[in-house]
Amino acid sequence: MVKPECDSHTGADTHDEHGKRVADMFGRIAGWYDFLNHALSGGLDIYWRYRLAKAARPESGGMVLDLAAGTMDVSVELLRQYPECRVAALDFALPMLENGKAKKLRKGREDSIFPVQADGRALPLPDESMSAATIAFGIRNILPRQDAYAEFFRVLKPGARLCILEFGSGSKRVWKGLYNFYLDKMLPFIGDRISGDPGAYRYLAETIKSFPNERALGSELLDAGFERVYNVPMMSGIVYLHVAQKPLKDAG
Ligand SMILES: C[S@@+](CC[C@H](N)C(=O)[O-])C[C@H]1O[C@@H](n2cnc3c(N)ncnc32)[C@H](O)[C@@H]1O
Repeated sequence: MVKPECDSHTGADTHDEHGKRVADMFGRIAGWYDFLNHALSGGLDIYWRYRLAKAARPESGGMVLDLAAGTMDVSVELLRQYPECRVAALDFALPMLENGKAKKLRKGREDSIFPVQADGRALPLPDESMSAATIAFGIRNILPRQDAYAEFFRVLKPGARLCILEFGSGSKRVWKGLYNFYLDKMLPFIGDRISGDPGAYRYLAETIKSFPNERALGSELLDAGFERVYNVPMMSGIVYLHVAQKPLKDAG
């Protein structure tokens, strides 16, 4: 039997097929995505995205890459915190971008946020063109992650930051049982009923549980060439902010 190329919770055998299934899935739930996001996190996702944008620290007037931008909540927060910057909002699920565009790209934001349909494994951006990069709840979906890290590294300017927001496993023992119950039972139940996509929120729970812990993710970033890697746990490790920097070039 031929060994599948990837270990995907979508059941796909190849990375390309995985990407297609993930894009289709987010395309199907796009209309409900924002509502469910805020409802399932009790509104805390707004604070998490605020912290992510705060850590990005782009140079004034620079371009920031928001990969897996979805409905562009992070892109909007980046522009709010850095009004002199522009944001390249990239995602391969067009309905997510369109939904965000219709709801959020008003009041002049459309002049500074540029939604583009693109795969994070092959960014349509020049080398060393981005002053910072963010990805919120997206890296978990990309296989292999190393392709995305390599692309982040390529497009970032030397000294610029990559900031990743992602679920953790809930490090405190007291939370663990509760968190697993939430992931295994409540999330799929609520998600299925509201989004109308049986499976999408089960996929979410499975990918959260199999995602590498914060130390392993830090090692992946170092292996990809980044330095000054650190993480900040939020809500007892249910969510982590990971920060990494592309090294400055040697003066000599
Ligand atoms: C959970 S949503 C996060 C959206 C947004 N960043 C937020 O904070 O709400 C994940 C997004 O990642 C996108 N995505 C997954 N794999 C991707 C890839 N390889 N390239 C581009 N986008 C991808 C999906 O289409 C989806 O919109």
